[in-house]
Amino acid sequence: MIIAIDGPAASGKGTLGKRLAHHYGYRHLDTGVIYRAVAKALLDRGFDLTDEARAVAIAMELDPENFGHPELKSQRIGDAASVVSAIPRVREALVNFQRQFAADPPGAVLDGRDIGTVICPNADVKIFVVADPQVRAHRRTLEALARGEAADEAMVLADILKRDERDKNRAAAPLKAAEDAHILDNSNLDVEASVSAAIAIVEAVRAAR
Ligand code: CDP
Ligand code: CDP
Repeated sequence: MIIAIDGPAASGKGTLGKRLAHHYGYRHLDTGVIYRAVAKALLDRGFDLTDEARAVAIAMELDPENFGHPELKSQRIGDAASVVSAIPRVREALVNFQRQFAADPPGAVLDGRDIGTVICPNADVKIFVVADPQVRAHRRTLEALARGEAADEAMVLADILKRDERDKNRAAAPLKAAEDAHILDNSNLDVEASVSAAIAIVEAVRAAR
């Protein structure tokens, strides 16, 4: 069983993916972390984010052990990730790792931008999570404040909108819902209600088999 979750920035994909994986006893991969790790490695070494050869080399030697680094969650790295992730060869270098993760038993939940369209087009269940931009900006601001970082909600919103535009309009694996994805708008749902709605989608798909 493979569950694909896609959606724009701060829509709640990661939180939902983690909770669904826990509910079903599956493994979970937040694929955004992979692009964030490539971006961070480039910045740490003083390379340009559009340096294709270096970005591809870094993507090919990524160590999943580093995916838990707290700095990866920052806005700066998220923004840099959306620049690096637009390079087709960087994306290609990361496909096998993601597909292998998805295929291993007993099942997996992957969240990102192109899981249902490119990485796992045959996923058993596809969920495309959306929420109003203002709601998403508010959630990210609360998270930053909880981490003790300064955060201006209007700036967070501008950053989210800019990143969504870049992700939607790139040529390689743009952010979009797969035709067979179930749209889940959680603008007015708390985490528990959002998880329940997603479980209902998964159960409906299972029952229909
Ligand atoms: O992975 P993505 O960037 O899409 O979102 P996230 O990292 O899961 O962050 C979403 C934030 O919104 C978290 O702080 C959640 O607690 C909160 N949230 C949510 O995920 N789902 C809701 N229905 C409501 C709030
Ligand atoms: O958590 P949030 O939604 O803010 O960002 P993320 O999921 O960690 O993704 C960071 C950036 O990586 C996105 O803006 C995308 O440009 C890129 N990304 C991607 O291109 N494909 C994926 N499957 C996941 C992330």
